[in-house]
Amino acid sequence: MSRMDVMEVFNGILFPGHLHTQDSLEIALKFPFQDTDILIASYPKSGTTWMQEMVTLISNRGDPHLSQTVPNWARAPWLEQHYFAAVLEASSITPRVITTHLPHHLLGLTLQSSKAKVIYVSRNPKDVLVSFYHFHKMANFLPEPGTFPEFLNRFLEGTLSYGSWFDHVKEWTSQTATMSNLLHITYEEMSLDPHGTIKRVSSFLQCPLMDDEVNNCVKHCSFSSMKDNKMVNYTQIAEEIMDHSKGSFMRKGKIGDWKNMFTEEQNQYFRSVFKSKMQNCILEFVWDEQ
Ligand code: A3P
Repeated sequence: MSRMDVMEVFNGILFPGHLHTQDSLEIALKFPFQDTDILIASYPKSGTTWMQEMVTLISNRGDPHLSQTVPNWARAPWLEQHYFAAVLEASSITPRVITTHLPHHLLGLTLQSSKAKVIYVSRNPKDVLVSFYHFHKMANFLPEPGTFPEFLNRFLEGTLSYGSWFDHVKEWTSQTATMSNLLHITYEEMSLDPHGTIKRVSSFLQCPLMDDEVNNCVKHCSFSSMKDNKMVNYTQIAEEIMDHSKGSFMRKGKIGDWKNMFTEEQNQYFRSVFKSKMQNCILEFVWDEQ
C-alpha cells in the first residue's frame, strides 16, 4: 500500500502533512484558550489516548456513554491538526477537552493568557520509542521507520516527527514549578495505580468522584476495555491511513516492553545519551534506573 507520508516542517520540527498544515500549526500557537478548557499535552505514544479516555470518563462521573459513542479525536481534538476548528465548533461537549503534541516553547505564550488546566503525560522514553517504532510501521502518514537501530538513533537525535522527546519532556515538566494549573502524570503511574491516578486527575479537575464512580472510570479505561472500544482503538480509520494488517494502535499497553527490543549495548548507549541530555532536568523520573 502506498504511503501518504509528506511532512510539514514547522519551527524546525517535522509534523505529518496528512494532519497538519502551516496554517493549522500557526493558528494553534494563537489559540485563545478559555479558563474552563482542559488541555492534555504529551509527546506521541506516551499515553495520550488513555488520558483522553480518563478525562472523558471523569467528566462524566464514570459513565462510558460519551467515550463509547464519540471518537476520541472528536471529543478531545488535537489543537494543531487541520480539522480542529471545525470539530471544536461542532461540539457541544463541556468542559472542552483539547489535546496537543506541541512542545511548550511553541504553546507557552498563548497558554499564559488563560487558567486552562493542563495535564502533561510522560512515559519511559524507551517504551515511547518502541511504541513509536511499531506505530510508524502501521501509520501510512508517517515515514517508514527503517531498522530499529536507525530509528533509535533518530529518536536520540530528536529528528523524528514532533521533535525531540528530551526537549518536550524537559520543557513541559519544568513548568510544574511555576504553573499551578499544570499536572504531570506518568504512564507508569496510570498503569501501576489506576485508582490513585483517577483520584488525582479528578481532584485536579475539581470534579471529585464517589468510590463507585472511580471504579467505573478504572474499568472503562482499562487496556482491555479500550482495546475493544471502536471510538479509541482506531480500527475505524481507513486502511490507507492506518494499515491494520501491520499492527494495532492498542498494541501491548505494558510497562517495560523496551526490554524485548533493546540490546544491552543499545540500552547502555541510550542511558548515556539520556544522562547527558536530561542533566538539567529538575524532576526525578520514575524510570531512571530501569
Ligand atoms: P504500546 O504501543 O506500548 O502498546 P498514545 O495514545 O500517546 O499514542 O500512546 C499509545 C500507547 O498507549 C500504546 O502503547 C497503547 O497501547 C497505550 N495505551 C493506550 N491505552 C492504554 C490503556 N488503557 N492501558 C495501557 N496502555 C494503553
